[in-house]
Amino acid sequence: MASSKSKGRVSLDERFYLSADDFFPATAGLGLTYDDVSLATRYSEVLPRMTRLDSALSDSLALSLPIVSSDMDTVTEHRMAIAMALNGGLGLLHYNMSEAEQVAEVRRVKNHIHGMIGDPAVVSADDTIAQVLARIEHDGLAFSTFPVTSSDGTLLGLLPGSTVKERHGQRKVAAVMIPRDKVFTVAEKDLGKDPIATADRKFSEHVGQNKLLVVDAKNKLRGLFTLSDIERISEESRAHVRPTRDVDFRLRVGVAISVPRTADGEIDRARLLAHVSALIDEGADALAISTAHGHTKGVGDALRLLRKAHKDITLIAGNVTSGEGVEFLAAAGADTVKIGQGPGSICTTRIVAGVGIPQLTALYVASRAAAKKGVRILADGGITKSGDIVKALTLADAVILGGLLAGSREAPGKLMEINGKTYKEYRGMGSHEAMRKGSAARYGHSASGKFSKVAAEGIEALKEVSGTVDQVLGTLAGGVQSGLGYLGAANLAEHRKRARYIRVTPAGQREAAPHDVIEIKAGS
Ligand code: XMP
Repeated sequence: MASSKSKGRVSLDERFYLSADDFFPATAGLGLTYDDVSLATRYSEVLPRMTRLDSALSDSLALSLPIVSSDMDTVTEHRMAIAMALNGGLGLLHYNMSEAEQVAEVRRVKNHIHGMIGDPAVVSADDTIAQVLARIEHDGLAFSTFPVTSSDGTLLGLLPGSTVKERHGQRKVAAVMIPRDKVFTVAEKDLGKDPIATADRKFSEHVGQNKLLVVDAKNKLRGLFTLSDIERISEESRAHVRPTRDVDFRLRVGVAISVPRTADGEIDRARLLAHVSALIDEGADALAISTAHGHTKGVGDALRLLRKAHKDITLIAGNVTSGEGVEFLAAAGADTVKIGQGPGSICTTRIVAGVGIPQLTALYVASRAAAKKGVRILADGGITKSGDIVKALTLADAVILGGLLAGSREAPGKLMEINGKTYKEYRGMGSHEAMRKGSAARYGHSASGKFSKVAAEGIEALKEVSGTVDQVLGTLAGGVQSGLGYLGAANLAEHRKRARYIRVTPAGQREAAPHDVIEIKAGS
């Protein structure tokens, strides 16, 4: 306890609701997680919608939403990474794929132009209208206007929906299309840094046009904007979201790295450096060395190697739950350290290996070590509701979500229906199936091992489908903003300063959730 708090000068609130540096040391030896603790509300002049959630993973990687999607093969591929960056967060691409495929995934994110349909459905000039109608029926298309291209992608014209009618069935597309010189187009090079604003302006200047085709210098079709998409996006961006972009206005993306080893167990330096260079050439913004145990010689060596080769790239490493672990990774070159061993919703590390620290205690210890070393920390795993994020952000710079995003439309994996409900697969990277796909090294096993003989540290599960990432993050961000409002904090720096903690008993935990009612509609 701070010595200034001598009897008589300490208010009742100060005695009961303690700051992090009073609360956590007083619980030394006890492992606390999110539900064990509640935050005290403070005098506030801050409305939730006025709060800002800006944070950063390094001096060069700022986020306007402190949420990162987990580098798991049932959570983050390019669709998730695009959605995360568009919402102001960041996606970490997983590494259960070939090196070439990982480079291609980075390219997909970096080349994504929000609002532009990159590979629009096209028709050929020789098609008949009857063939176009059959295609619309077969593919279940909800539109009937198509760019007309030759086999090498050259733009020849635009087939207007008004001509795609049974009565014109025998006519050729070439006979009814709008010819190339009358098609509303924009050169790819003229899209500039903000393609949405450019498209928006062009639509305003050309009354009545509702499709804008993008062509390259050789008149090859590169994409298509529709007026309705642009209007929707412009409206959303005026609302609040600031996407995570690089200096060239491309979306940012992080990539988890699997450290390759030679036959004698040494890091395969040449292969690792070649892969990382390929990722960085494509524009990767952060690299993450993700293992179950980051406080190891292997992770330290790999980090030092990457830091020496790439001074400016944001390096994330983990996972650890100790101050020494944070200091070790910081000294080896990490900008951001992932905190969490065994809290994840699909994790069994604590059960299988008997190790790990409940998240809030781990975050407190890690945050103080991180402050000493000037690095940032990510709260990784165990987050099941927005209130957990509010608590995590009193100690961490951002959170990593797995389970909360695994049910969203942008997560990889097929939908499956069971008893009228729709689910997606969600599995631990330490589950047998995921290790077989490549993540064995993360758990210290040989990639060519027989996994039936290895203790899995994760399970395979299902998540009920939860809508789009926009919807999930919108709800979570709203909850976090409410939390800041209750604490009277306009931003995350104030949030950390104003946080006051109290332990919650099992009865208090019951009181915190809906109780003694029959729920007819879930809150969120
Ligand atoms: P949530 O709770 O968000 O947790 O679903 C996601 C985090 O869990 C970690 N992870 C694992 N931990 N065994 C573990 O002990 C596993 O198989 C496993 N797979 C993922 C990882 O840190 C992730 O971000």
